[in-house]
Amino acid sequence: MTVPDDYECLKGMTIKDVPRQFIVKNGHPQPYQGLAIDCKEGTSFQVARDFIKSVPESARQMLIDEVNTFFTVNENERAVVTFSVRSMLDLYLQARKFPPGSEIIMTGMNIPDMVQIMKEHQIKVVPVDLDIATMMPCVEDVRKSLSPQTKACIFAYIYGCTYDIAPFVEILNAANVEIIEDCAQSFRSLEKFKGSDFATMTMFSFGLIKFNTAFYGAVTVFRNLNETHRQPNEKLLC
Ligand SMILES: Cc1ncc(COP(=O)(O)O)c(C=O)c1O
Repeated sequence: MTVPDDYECLKGMTIKDVPRQFIVKNGHPQPYQGLAIDCKEGTSFQVARDFIKSVPESARQMLIDEVNTFFTVNENERAVVTFSVRSMLDLYLQARKFPPGSEIIMTGMNIPDMVQIMKEHQIKVVPVDLDIATMMPCVEDVRKSLSPQTKACIFAYIYGCTYDIAPFVEILNAANVEIIEDCAQSFRSLEKFKGSDFATMTMFSFGLIKFNTAFYGAVTVFRNLNETHRQPNEKLLC
């Protein structure tokens, strides 16, 4: 089995990191293969129940510290655990209270729920296309999607492919647009990718269908909590 070299987005990956649909065997790309989860019937419900059971106050700080040790690299970052990436997006929008009609740019492949959550908050979702060779949008398309109503831009890394968002930072910062990374499909160990320093918020999912599943759960890393960001984020971080 080989890592195909005609996809820019797979550069530097080892065979273990590559999404299965990109794996080539005897010259033929391998079709999607299922992931077998060795667990008892009902384990999923049990995990969900344990997840929402309140954690004793004595254990709470220890768990928060432990997650932060794994996911953050300096004191400008804080990690928050939620039931899912979807619940974090909802929490973020509740905290930010963007006025109705505000816009969020989103890279053009994601799950319908993410769009639905934004619509529930009366946010207009503005999609930008992905280049299939790199799995990233082009800077010019993002620039054209900006408007005075744009509040945030969500980069979703699809099929395990991550890319450098540095080329987008200047135009987004100039427009005062928050950068959000949706890494629901791209957790490949903390040594390999912890999110971009340029993103205010990087979300990882450990849901049932994820490669690194914990059945449920998500971790979001918030960055650069300076004075401008602190007040709105405070509500998210409590
Ligand atoms: C790109 C993307 N974003 C968000 C999500 C939602 O993640 P969660 O199940 O943790 O809400 C998924 C789930 O598959 C996803 O693929």
